[in-house]
Amino acid sequence: MSDMIVRTHELVKVYETGGETVHALDGVSIGVSQGQFVAIMGASGSGKSTFMNMIGCLDVPTSGSIEIAGRDVAGLSRDELAEVRNRQLGFVFQQFNLLKRTSATQNVALPLIYAGVSVSERRARAEAQLADVGLGDRLQNMPNQLSGGQQQRVAIARALVTRPSILLADEPTGALDSKTSVEVMKILQGLSEKGISIILVTHEDDIAAYAERRIDFRDGRVIADEPVRNRR
Ligand SMILES: Nc1ncnc2c1ncn2[C@@H]1O[C@H](COP(=O)(O)OP(=O)(O)OP(=O)(O)O)[C@@H](O)[C@H]1O
Ligand SMILES: [Mg+2]
Repeated sequence: MSDMIVRTHELVKVYETGGETVHALDGVSIGVSQGQFVAIMGASGSGKSTFMNMIGCLDVPTSGSIEIAGRDVAGLSRDELAEVRNRQLGFVFQQFNLLKRTSATQNVALPLIYAGVSVSERRARAEAQLADVGLGDRLQNMPNQLSGGQQQRVAIARALVTRPSILLADEPTGALDSKTSVEVMKILQGLSEKGISIILVTHEDDIAAYAERRIDFRDGRVIADEPVRNRR
């Protein structure tokens, strides 16, 4: 048994489009322990999002293996992958992807519909999750009645409402100003202290400084993997 919640071994992803071959991932072997907060950095096109999509069971590797919570996801069927995704993983993106004309509470409760949770429990859990991210006084606001940072906090609450063990965040502060970005990063730090593993993609050193470990990608490979010094 490994104490790693995520482990990849020699992960390779090759895209072939219009006669061109791109090695988006070229042999990535990484382990992430429970509750660890990892920042992934690297130039545009270095393979960061491709890596996140593989960990997130949204796409399958060309070769190599991925273990999530001790389970090798390589041989799983589409339904089994969906189950791992729903049980273990939460996703946050640069665009908040909230439903318009739908309250914060309803947005957060949405993943619980697919999990078969009753209406009353859905609402209770969504409200508690929103309170946890500091939005207990904005439960009925629609996305267009919330600031950017508040919308991202709703998206974080939605990602957490199913109680995942891993949160994947691809440039979650990309659309936010620096003050609001700090609020979001502090929330992510708190989650990691509660034992949720966080894998975050960012282009900004200041944002990566909130993580405890930083991994740098170049051309689909890991070129550095170090603890964050002078952590914020
Ligand atoms: N679906 C796809 N089909 C073909 N090529 C792709 C696909 N997705 C990504 N690529 C290519 O794979 C490489 C890695 O892309 P990826 O999106 O992982 O980069 P990234 O590090 O996330 O970049 P950015 O910082 O711009 O988001 C790029 O060269 C990209 O063009
Ligand atoms: Mg990307």
